[in-house]
Amino acid sequence: MDGNGRWAQRQGKPRSHGHQAGSDALKRTVESVMSHGIGHLTVYAFSSENWSRPNIEVKQLLDLFMRALNREVRELNEHGVCIRFIGDRSAFSRPLRDGMKRAENRTRDNRKLILNVAVNYGGRADIVQATRQLAQAVERGEISPEDIEESMVARNLSLHDGPPPDLLIRTGGEKRLSNFLLWQLAYTELHFSDVLWPDFDGEHVEIALHDFASRERRFGGLSKVQSA
Ligand code: FPP
Repeated sequence: MDGNGRWAQRQGKPRSHGHQAGSDALKRTVESVMSHGIGHLTVYAFSSENWSRPNIEVKQLLDLFMRALNREVRELNEHGVCIRFIGDRSAFSRPLRDGMKRAENRTRDNRKLILNVAVNYGGRADIVQATRQLAQAVERGEISPEDIEESMVARNLSLHDGPPPDLLIRTGGEKRLSNFLLWQLAYTELHFSDVLWPDFDGEHVEIALHDFASRERRFGGLSKVQSA
């Protein structure tokens, strides 16, 4: 969800105004993906690198998450959304961590949309923690290093109980992954949009889905024409 800061600056407003508008864009996007019958959505709300922003911006972002939790969870729950958080929450305040846990517990049985919110998330750190868990299993004598397979790494990563993402959308004009879901994106189709995140809406979801529908997914195999 990139481009909040630039969106605000273009209007001569503080960056926090852009994050607030970004929160509205997220709401519109959730509604739009649900209207298309999409069952899983993962959004990058706060990267492990975002701590390096000025303290005031970090505080405003975390306050915004807290407000969004208090304000939106009831409605999300009524619409059948299951909210989950991925990333290292240990760095967050107690009230924020409690709010996340409450939201997860309240919505845990919903299945219309699984909404994963990545907070203090980093793709490399995700792979490191999975590696650590496997190393501990080796140390306990439960597995030997030769037993380690891709599926075992995957089982210890975030999103292990959902499908790998079909489509990644990055807004804001940058064309990079910025440490997001590095393992899980191996065969994901990538869609880069110049739209700044606060301007993102259902029309842009449709453009991205249309782009996705035009791709031929080969997963390392041959195309239909090549294999005919
Ligand atoms: C990147 O834009 C965006 C963020 C670091 C924050 C994302 C947060 C939201 C969209 C708020 C809503 C989220 C929830 C979970 C309620 P940027 O600040 O890097 O923009 P820039 O590249 O233009 O500076």
